[in-house]
Formats: sequence, structure tokens, C-alpha cells
Amino acid sequence: MLTVQPLQPATFPVPGQFYMLQAGASYDPLLKRPFSYLSAENGSITFLYRIRGKGTRAIAALREKETISLIGPLGNAYPVPSGEFIAVAGGIGIASLFSLFGAATGRATLFWGGRTAGELLMTETVRGLVRTAVITTDDGSAGRKSLVTEPFREYLAVNAHLPVYVCGSTPMMKAVAALCSDAGARCFVSLEAYMACGVGACLGCVVKIRDSENHEGRFRSVCKDGPVFDASTVVWEGQ
Ligand SMILES: Cc1cc2nc3c(=O)[nH]c(=O)nc-3n(C[C@H](O)[C@H](O)[C@H](O)COP(=O)(O)OP(=O)(O)OC[C@H]3O[C@@H](n4cnc5c(N)ncnc54)[C@H](O)[C@@H]3O)c2cc1C
Ligand code: FES
Repeated sequence: MLTVQPLQPATFPVPGQFYMLQAGASYDPLLKRPFSYLSAENGSITFLYRIRGKGTRAIAALREKETISLIGPLGNAYPVPSGEFIAVAGGIGIASLFSLFGAATGRATLFWGGRTAGELLMTETVRGLVRTAVITTDDGSAGRKSLVTEPFREYLAVNAHLPVYVCGSTPMMKAVAALCSDAGARCFVSLEAYMACGVGACLGCVVKIRDSENHEGRFRSVCKDGPVFDASTVVWEGQ
């Protein structure tokens, strides 16, 4: 977890948005990395991150009152649901959905999966923000031993009228999007992508998105046009 205090007054983020962060005085890694904000209050912004490589290791090495370089808030937002909704998270994907739970407290039925229990962070805090949380792990170390799509599929069969919000790995989001399409449920995905600039300038994060005039899809940047897209418009790899 990382909490930062912007030096200048900052724009308030909305659920679904993210920041580009870079810790340390050196240029290694050269590029900032994208992180969803977890919460923003009293002028501070908090992030939840998993250590993966150089960028996240540099963030983890920060000490109190050290400086971090940050751009944001960036990207679009989740449409905040007016009533109950379904959320599906894979591992650290919970960080993106967390602020939505804050804006719509007690309205989400959450399906949250990880490989092991250790991948599921802040479970009690998350449980306090949702109606129900169904947890799954691949190895059975927490919750039901299954893929997260299994209990989600069962619930969707009788709740396809509810909108579905998803953040996790691309294969999981693709599977959830297909289930929603079959069930006729509205589905919003927060796509993952490698990002360089974070502001739509480098085209390093483009994906194909369909619109009414172009069924094959046009390239859109995940950082500026997304990261949240209506799942029915996404041209998934292999399609
Ligand atoms: C919009 C958005 C929001 C995100 N929010 C969060 C968040 O809240 N918390 C969090 O922990 N992570 C989040 N991520 C992922 C995070 O940006 C990456 O984990 C981070 O960039 C890794 O940087 P690194 O230098 O530590 O690792 P690197 O050295 O760059 O990579 C280490 C490993 O991580 C993989 N990886 C790196 N970046 C990505 C990526 N974007 N997608 C998939 N795999 C990747 C690489 O394939 C490699 O195997 C988000 C990504 C996006 C696009
Ligand atoms: S990261 Fe440069 S266009 Fe998205």
C-alpha cells in the first residue's frame, strides 16, 4: 500500500481512473507505471500494488516523506451503477473496483479470485464495502477451490439483469465478457495494457474497439479512451 500527498492541489479522481507513478531518483525504470487509485481523501491518494518488477520494487523501497513522481488522474471512469451490481475481480484487480465499492457501498455482489489466499489483499475491508463477497482460489487456500468464473456463472444465470464490472487478467475478463454476452448482461471491463506515456500520445497501449460504424474495430488507447470499455465493443485477441 502507498499513500501520497500531492504537493500541488490535485484533481479529484473518479472510480476507474488511474495514475502513472515512478519512484526513485534514477531513470531505471525509465517509464512511469500505471496504478488504479484505491481511495482519495483528505488530499491524499492511496494505491494498492503487487510487487512485480523494477517499477514496483522501487515503489516498495520508498521511505516515509520521500518524493514520488505522479501524473493523474488519467483515463475514463466506470459508469456508477444506480442500483445493485455484480463485480468480478482477479487478484490485484480489486484495486480498480475498490473505489467503485466506496461510491456504491453495499450494492455489489463480488466474485474475487486468486491463485492463492496471499493474492487476495484487504479482504475484510473489501467485505465491509460489498453486499456479498464470494472468494475463490486455484489451490483452495481461501474460499471455494475453483476459477472465479464458476460461481459467477451460477449467479449470472439468475441475475443477468444486473450490470457486471470486471478487472483482472485478460483471459478472465474475456471469459466473463463471453458469459455476459451469452446471458445478455451489460458488462464493463477495465483493460490491462503496458503503458508508456499514459496520455494517448505514444499509441503503446492500443486495443481494437468496435463501434456502430466499424464492426472490425478501430484502434483506441487504453490509457486515454479507457481503461474502462463496454465489453461488447472489445475485439479480444484471437477473435
Ligand atoms: C490501468 C491500469 C491500472 C493498474 N492498476 C494496478 C494496481 O492498482 N495495482 C497493481 O499492483 N498493479 C496495477 N496495474 C499493473 C501495474 O501497472 C504493473 O504491475 C506494473 O506496471 C509493473 O511494473 P514493474 O516495473 O514492477 O514490472 P515490470 O518489470 O514492468 O514487469 C514485471 C512483470 O509484470 C508484467 N506486467 C507489467 N505490466 C503489466 C501490465 N500492465 N499488465 C499485465 N502485466 C504486466 C510483465 O509481463 C512482467 O512479467 C495496473 C495496470 C493498468 C494498465
Ligand atoms: S500509453 Fe501511450 S498511448 Fe497509451
